[in-house]
Amino acid sequence: MVNFIDIEKFTADELLEVAELAENYKNFDLNSPIFLNNRDKIVALIFLENSTRTRISFEIAAKKLGLTVIGFDSEKSSLEKGETIKDTVLTLKALGVNAIVLRASSASSVNQVSKWVDIPVINAGNAMRSHPTQAMGDFVTIREAISQGRFKSENINSFDDFSKLKIGIVGDIIHSRVARSLGELFERFGAKTYLIGPEELLPKFDIGFRVEGITDDFKTCLPELDIIIALRIQLERLTEPLLVNPIFYRERYGITGSLLESAKPSTLFMHPGPQVRDLEIDSDIIDSDRSLILKQVENSIYSRMAVLTKTMGLEIDGINNL
Ligand code: CP
Repeated sequence: MVNFIDIEKFTADELLEVAELAENYKNFDLNSPIFLNNRDKIVALIFLENSTRTRISFEIAAKKLGLTVIGFDSEKSSLEKGETIKDTVLTLKALGVNAIVLRASSASSVNQVSKWVDIPVINAGNAMRSHPTQAMGDFVTIREAISQGRFKSENINSFDDFSKLKIGIVGDIIHSRVARSLGELFERFGAKTYLIGPEELLPKFDIGFRVEGITDDFKTCLPELDIIIALRIQLERLTEPLLVNPIFYRERYGITGSLLESAKPSTLFMHPGPQVRDLEIDSDIIDSDRSLILKQVENSIYSRMAVLTKTMGLEIDGINNL
């Protein structure tokens, strides 16, 4: 695994290896701040779009692996003086950086950077295209919920039953890099994906992964869903004003108490964050034990540790065998 840019580039076995390593790291962690020593290896975190959880979890992941972490403040960097991304990453490489984690505002940038430098490049979200490490953390979270028996009533008892899962992704699908990476991942493992949202936020083109249903009428699939993943409306990516009014949106697509009445008692809720409380998902549901949101955040650390390990070829003797 040289780079980690798109879920679709990996086989199910390769993705499973990353997930299992993440789970081993989680078991191994025992709250020790650093359990591997890789101080001579440097990872640069380049975030050209805003981020809280991805940037900080990558930093924590790298530090737990004992890596040296270089933050890169784009607004204080020479990008502001007109230096290109190409010259920036070549400069970092020349300075001794061993891997680049990149959040980019254009869909092609991460791929492009991986061609300019011969060090691992990890996609931390590239515009509307993909967010593979978010998908891996969410995958680990779903595997954990299965192993805890959260879907027992649906006869989903182990990962072997993953393909029985029906997963609804709700909201701003067309602007969502998370929806795309999750859809690719769910397809790899056979789960059924439903895309739900107002017509203007649903894809009108082949989205690139297998979909069981696309609908603007949540009620048609809601009672079947085992997991509902709410998405934020990405106002910053709209090219035209959104015609959907927030009250209408919440009534039709928000995860609310009245929506719960039509869902199965076992249905769990996820959100990649950042979430807008009481629009996409009600506060009391976010804070309830049917929400996996903070588990997603926690598991993203271990998934990112696994991705850094695999791409950077770190020594992990003993961890795999736990
Ligand atoms: N899910 C996610 O990418 O969140 P951040 O933008 O806060 O990193």
